[in-house]
Amino acid sequence: MQVVADPAEFHRLCRGWAAAAGGLGLVPTMGALHAGHLSLVRASRGRDAATAASIFVNPLQFGPGEDFARYPRALERDCALLEREGVTAVFTPAAEAMYPADFATAVEVAGLSERLCGASRPGHFRGVATVVLKLFLLAQPARAYFGQKDAAQVAVIRRMVRDLAAPVEIVVCPIVREPDGLAMSSRNAYLDAAARRHALALYRSLSVMRDRYQAGERDPARLLAAGRAVLEAEPGVRPDYVAAVDPDSLLPVAAAGPGTLLAVAAFVGPARLIDNLLL
Ligand code: PAF
Repeated sequence: MQVVADPAEFHRLCRGWAAAAGGLGLVPTMGALHAGHLSLVRASRGRDAATAASIFVNPLQFGPGEDFARYPRALERDCALLEREGVTAVFTPAAEAMYPADFATAVEVAGLSERLCGASRPGHFRGVATVVLKLFLLAQPARAYFGQKDAAQVAVIRRMVRDLAAPVEIVVCPIVREPDGLAMSSRNAYLDAAARRHALALYRSLSVMRDRYQAGERDPARLLAAGRAVLEAEPGVRPDYVAAVDPDSLLPVAAAGPGTLLAVAAFVGPARLIDNLLL
């Protein structure tokens, strides 16, 4: 496995694989890898001739006062995991290499970027779209793999790819959960034992909404009230949003139905966590 920090060198390497039959798969990450990330790698390994991963804690997608400085970093461990999974190359650029001092360009997916996490994290999706497009241009992958846990990110990236006719297929892999239901997240590392227990309220809140839906409830207001009540009843949990939206537009649905995205975000101790399910 090659570990490459220089964007130009990564581009040169990827061009060779991108031209080969079977194409290149790209798994963009911010590192601190868990089973969710590895499921993306395995999806690519099962399909693409070569798999490249990126590990880059992207400063552009963190707002002031957010967790950029303390975001978990575990480069050596991550590289060992990726090597074991058979990844061909890992791109680990420095921030200055991705964003020189006079970097002046941003990718804005207007509208979508202000919904769900974008409403509480202004500028977040501009940072995501900008780095993801730059990674696509460097790697020129046939396919890029993202987790369904970041459902709003998936919507933003899909729209960017469609609007700009970027020649890359977006593959979305299912959420990977701990046995008790907690969605895998690098930010789970912030949780102590008590906060870890409180964090289960996110999945419980989604499960309550799904159960009510399966029992016949279609009114989003009543579904969301039930989901929010679960979060509010849990000590140490402060809900950010509870939403029932169309997964492509991220706009609230008038009535819940097949394909509706139920999404929650909440502050649990020092972490802001998200989770979702598709009805
Ligand atoms: O999902 C993530 O880890 C990040 O948002 C991504 C897609 C790697 C861009 O920095």
